[in-house]
Amino acid sequence: MSAQAGGYEAQPHPFNGGGECRSILSGSAGYSASLQNEAPAEKMVIDGGYPLTGEVEIGGGKNPALAVVAASLLCDETCVIENLPYVEDVRVMIELLESLGVKTERSGRTLAVDARSISGCAPPYELARKLRASSYLIGALLGKLGRAQVPYPGGCNIGKRGLDQHLKGMRALGARVDEAGDMIIARSARKLAGADIYMDKITVGGTINVLIAACRAQGLTVISNAAKEPHIVEVANFLNSMGARIKGAGTDVIRVQGVERLHETSYAIIPDQIETGTMMIAAAATRGDVTIRGCIPTHMEALTAKLLEAGVRVDDRDDVIRVRSNGAHRAIAIKTQVYPGFPTDLQQPMCSLLATARGTSTVTESIFDDRFRHLPELARMGARVRLNGSDAYIEGIPHLYGAAVTATDLRAGAAMVVAGLMAHGVTEIAEPHYIDRGYELITDKLNSLGARVRRVTEVADDSL
Ligand code: EPZ
Repeated sequence: MSAQAGGYEAQPHPFNGGGECRSILSGSAGYSASLQNEAPAEKMVIDGGYPLTGEVEIGGGKNPALAVVAASLLCDETCVIENLPYVEDVRVMIELLESLGVKTERSGRTLAVDARSISGCAPPYELARKLRASSYLIGALLGKLGRAQVPYPGGCNIGKRGLDQHLKGMRALGARVDEAGDMIIARSARKLAGADIYMDKITVGGTINVLIAACRAQGLTVISNAAKEPHIVEVANFLNSMGARIKGAGTDVIRVQGVERLHETSYAIIPDQIETGTMMIAAAATRGDVTIRGCIPTHMEALTAKLLEAGVRVDDRDDVIRVRSNGAHRAIAIKTQVYPGFPTDLQQPMCSLLATARGTSTVTESIFDDRFRHLPELARMGARVRLNGSDAYIEGIPHLYGAAVTATDLRAGAAMVVAGLMAHGVTEIAEPHYIDRGYELITDKLNSLGARVRRVTEVADDSL
């Protein structure tokens, strides 16, 4: 196979084969795996070294949209969802609803959902496995029909992703939940009943799932130790816009008074927190000057604080953030935490920025147990990285160098994009479909800021 775009010239940094990096590199599938792949494969190719400058508009949030589209099942009339992002995961969620007999109509960024025609409680196995957020269908279907049959979901390769708190919540609401192989079968002979539910672990998905189900339960549900991420507030606002009675979303105690019916609504999804953060990081990492419009600066406070610490200039006003950087960055320490701490979803792209900061940065991942698969890929570009359990140490070097790398998951893909934009030379990112799961029109948006990014499809080359 060869890449149509050509021009690939990897320039490994001298440290790349060195002692510290070796163990990290050995864990990577890397480029050779994609060479063995028979099917024509797409790549994202980046000519690096151009500072990002200009203005960019942020799209609707992927994670909020996934929760809202799933929750729309509960509506007893038609609900209209606006500002939906055009990303693969959202497309799959809509297909999941359709597979259950729900009528959907999409026009541009607007989706109308009419769940009155729902006819099934078991989405197709393969489709549901594609998406972690398919687990929200357990809460939505239990609330709607009193039964759900959903497989343990797939999603990105970032470590163990339990559902025990989701299922604990459903059981507390009165559902019987059985696990048969990798299938979850939940049913409730009677209406779900409100309950006090303490989450043993702070979980975004678990909080959302229980919140969705509790809307249609009889009586009061109190969710303690709830997650506080922006999309928790978003799904609560969406459900309240249909007549649900949810209070306290965004704090660690959420109260849900169940209601009999949920009426029609028209609701716009909030801007994507992680797309905003990725653009902020890319602007700083390329020593650029980017004005990001249509975002929510308060959602970005942890990232902004860390960028300021690293020596980046960040100004915000209303729904605009401007990020400027023209010098070397300082090494910093980052620890991922639940909101309002530093988001795990931005840890990976931030590692790329830190690869050229002065000094040694420490990055601690405390949410997922295997969210460092981007490090071997960064090492291919010359980064000096070392992993010790959940701590990564990144010793800054002057430049990254273009190389053939792999997007091993969605945000690892974002890390590769940032690194490719920073690097000297050409970077080829294999498996860019991971990036499409969560970033809308990323090639166009980056190119409008002066980047040189293109997608190429490999063609068979028999001479190889
Ligand atoms: C959501 O995943 C997001 N996904 C993730 O974004 C994000 O990284 C994560 O929250 C943390 O912010 C969606 O919103 C669709 P969790 P979720 O439940 O809900 C453990 C991206 O890149 N846990 O808060 O799966 C779990 O194993 C994606 O856009 C249990 O042990 O996150 C993990 O270690 C990736 N038992 C931790 O909690 C449970 O019952 C956090 O998971 C549930 C979770």
